[in-house]
Amino acid sequence: MRFLAALGLLALNSSAEKLAFEERATWKSHFKQHFNENTKLWDNLGTAPLDETAVFIFGLKQKNVEILERVFWQVSDPDSSQYGNFLKNSQISKLVGRDKHFVELFLARLSGENFVEDEEKVYLSQQSASKCTVNSNMDWVTCEFSVRDAMRLFDIQKFHVFRKPGSTRKYIRTTSYLKIPQSAAAMIDYIGGAVSKLPSVHQKLSIDREDFGKTIKENVRHIGNYPEVIRARYNISSETGRHPDNSQCTPQFLEQYYHQGDLDLFWRLYGKGYEHRQEIDKVVGDVPGGLSGIEASLDTQYIMSTGNNITTWFWYTAGRHEQQEPFLQWLIDLSNEENPPLVNSASYSDKENSVDPDYMKRINVEFMKAGARGLTLLFASGDDGAGCQENKRFEPQWPSTSPYVTTVGGTAFIHPFDIGEEEGYDISGGGFSDVFEMPEYQKELVASFLGTSEKLPPDDYYRPTGRGYPDIAAVSNHYWVVNNRVPVPGVLGTSASCPVVAGILAHINDYRLRSNLPPLGFVNPLLYKNPDAITDVTQGYNAGCDLSEYYDRGFYAQKGWDPVTGLGNPNFPTMLKVAMDAALKKHAKYPVDN
Ligand SMILES: *[C@@H]1O[C@H](CO)[C@@H](O)[C@H](O)[C@H]1NC(C)=O
Ligand SMILES: *[C@@H]1O[C@H](CO)[C@@H](O)[C@H](O)[C@H]1NC(C)=O
Repeated sequence: MRFLAALGLLALNSSAEKLAFEERATWKSHFKQHFNENTKLWDNLGTAPLDETAVFIFGLKQKNVEILERVFWQVSDPDSSQYGNFLKNSQISKLVGRDKHFVELFLARLSGENFVEDEEKVYLSQQSASKCTVNSNMDWVTCEFSVRDAMRLFDIQKFHVFRKPGSTRKYIRTTSYLKIPQSAAAMIDYIGGAVSKLPSVHQKLSIDREDFGKTIKENVRHIGNYPEVIRARYNISSETGRHPDNSQCTPQFLEQYYHQGDLDLFWRLYGKGYEHRQEIDKVVGDVPGGLSGIEASLDTQYIMSTGNNITTWFWYTAGRHEQQEPFLQWLIDLSNEENPPLVNSASYSDKENSVDPDYMKRINVEFMKAGARGLTLLFASGDDGAGCQENKRFEPQWPSTSPYVTTVGGTAFIHPFDIGEEEGYDISGGGFSDVFEMPEYQKELVASFLGTSEKLPPDDYYRPTGRGYPDIAAVSNHYWVVNNRVPVPGVLGTSASCPVVAGILAHINDYRLRSNLPPLGFVNPLLYKNPDAITDVTQGYNAGCDLSEYYDRGFYAQKGWDPVTGLGNPNFPTMLKVAMDAALKKHAKYPVDN
């Protein structure tokens, strides 16, 4: 991250040239579209005081995005000669990023040139400019303005203050369209921050209060799911992470944090019989005291017990920058991190139809950047099954529908007290994107599903040419989690499945690194080329439109890929074998010099 202190000067110089007042472009406020929906879920504290800080994030138009995309596919495809030839972050910056001159010109145009007639405003841009930073890839500029300055700079009438119920953290947003000079608008393709919709607040995890006691029969092997069960089911019982450079992470959004006390108790209850770390190795952001969140407790406990003895990061986005879009902030932070964690398990999703397509497109480029660096990004597929819009169409979740990430769905043991076969669970987010086309890597297997499923929903409920999700699935219910020093049973959600798959992939990375081979990176092309390495799940279905007289179910699991369980459940030994074979075939010698 770089501070742009020289900027005020630039603005002042151009003012001396007395440039003509420039036409302004109107930039839409995404928040405006969501004002009503957002204000129902958030406390609106009224008009923002003039000295509050409003954050704006500008996505500079990147260079060579087509080349980046080509590299992304090549380094991820086991059949490409470039498989595993990942780029360094500096190479990414060089490929897509802009230079210092471009950034300064953008900020000068944004804040300076159009204020030449007005001494006061020139002064203002000088003050404001010192608060802008650019990420190390040189493709995102983040500016902090006082509300007073932002109103004048962008011709905004009013900012509102919002607060998440039960929290003290404030978010500043405006419903106004931004008016920015056309020459500056031509240099960017996205503006976020104070014009973004507020982050999703709905709690994804739930606690299922179903009483096990009533149904317990003979031969009970386990009540609820805990590490020993998960480790046995996916055949990692005897695995231990060993490579010092291996790493995994659970980024957290919206004030979810963990407590060491919870981890300590979790290890006492569920940490026997395998080597594991006692503590998180690296915390990003300031994790406050107070109550821990169930999501953060679950994520840390299950990624550390599945990816046991692997260096674990806890990436606490809300502690880094207030008021922004925590998800975007995480990606920007990731682009600034020279040695980021190799496997990242995120429980974050939103309705695809509520997210600005420009934003999704831009974020896809961030996903490509991560994949091109050899990072694996996993997302929970969502907990509403196929979803439902107005009772007549399914509602896909994003970023589950991004073709550039791996999406993890939810399953359940068919016999809940046995460690055996699983079935698709009704909450499991799955379906087809209404925005993104089906990527090459899944075409054959998805076509096979569409051609053979006997229980397809009505045609107008989904778009069968869209990206199908999830890609893989793991057990999602009856988890034991220690939260605020209390063992809580029945924790349920695909955000439980996601860290489990992350830990398993992190073990594969461990073997790769120990053999001096590159990490997995974006893993979908490898998985879809080796479906036999994954345990197929052929039963179950996900929820659809509950109230519909036509259809209350989404899709049905069946042999092969399906939009409930993807390719199926992980099985460590077989996945390890195909991952090692693929890497060894290309990389007798690694790293290559590039
Ligand atoms: C994985 O473990 C199960 C038992 O849980 C076993 O039946 C299966 O053969 C194992 N798979 C492999 C590939 O080792
Ligand atoms: C745990 O991982 C570290 C490297 O991070 C390694 O040095 C150590 O030997 C591992 N422990 C075991 C029991 O394998």
